[in-house]
Amino acid sequence: STQDLHSILEFTTTLARSAGDLILEGSQAIRSSGNVDEKKNSVDLVTEYDVKVEELVKRELSSKYPTFKFIGEESYAAGSRPPLTDEPTFCVDPIDGTTNFVHGFPHVCISLGLIYKKVPILGVIYNPFLEQLYTGVKGQGAYLTQGKRDPVKLPLAKPRPLPSLSQALIGIEWGSDRSQDIVRAKGDSFKRLAGNPNEGVQGGRMAHSLRSLGSAALNFSMVAQGGMDIYWEIGCWPWDICAGSIIAQEAGCFVTGSHSYPLNNEVTEEVLTGRKHFVIRAIGDTETEKGVDAQKR
Ligand code: IPD
Repeated sequence: STQDLHSILEFTTTLARSAGDLILEGSQAIRSSGNVDEKKNSVDLVTEYDVKVEELVKRELSSKYPTFKFIGEESYAAGSRPPLTDEPTFCVDPIDGTTNFVHGFPHVCISLGLIYKKVPILGVIYNPFLEQLYTGVKGQGAYLTQGKRDPVKLPLAKPRPLPSLSQALIGIEWGSDRSQDIVRAKGDSFKRLAGNPNEGVQGGRMAHSLRSLGSAALNFSMVAQGGMDIYWEIGCWPWDICAGSIIAQEAGCFVTGSHSYPLNNEVTEEVLTGRKHFVIRAIGDTETEKGVDAQKR
């Protein structure tokens, strides 16, 4: 019910702020110790704090909501892979933007989503470095709360429709899969988006520019906030996008998978096991979507 969601939002917001304190503490510790592990390659990083933060969050959530299921990045990596059911399921990335965390680049967050009947219905994203808290609840809008002492809470309004890709600031990521095919496909798309198609001719039309925040959840949040027009990526995990997708949708953005695989606001088994494309844009302009799809091929 609405009341249940309200109290879950309160609880998870407080929890995200505590996780944020631990992330800040960890950032100092990791930068002095240099204790960073590589998962599948030299850019797929994990630290003891990814695990510590997830343990904290999992413990608190399961003692408050013992019947709810839990899917988390680190638990998944450790082999805990519960199938997605219709039951309420928390979906958590304890530290999204681990590379930023390791380098001290202040775009790092905890991303905490709640899925019910396979649809994300609540999202909390907290960046403790910038004290920015993004929240969204299905049917109840999305908000950015800035600051810790005297927080200011602002509704995230529906973005202005994007007239064309040539006016867009586009969020992209290199991701952690750097196999040649992926990097080539991404790099080609980035070049097409940013490069002048009419070399030497006046009046070239290309995207205003490309940006990478280094955290999928914060890229979603930035589009929801209106600071970027689109975020496009190949290869996210559910915990990267769960909270961000509901926040963005509640802010009036459009979230989708690739043509062959529309997200349709649903997280399915396939999203949990596969790695798909996600596009997000201001609603109301099919030309923009066609443009992005064309760049993808
Ligand atoms: C990653 C970040 C990155 C995105 C990857 C994610 P992590 O999450 O969100 O920006 O490009 O797809 O896996 O490893 O920092 O939790």
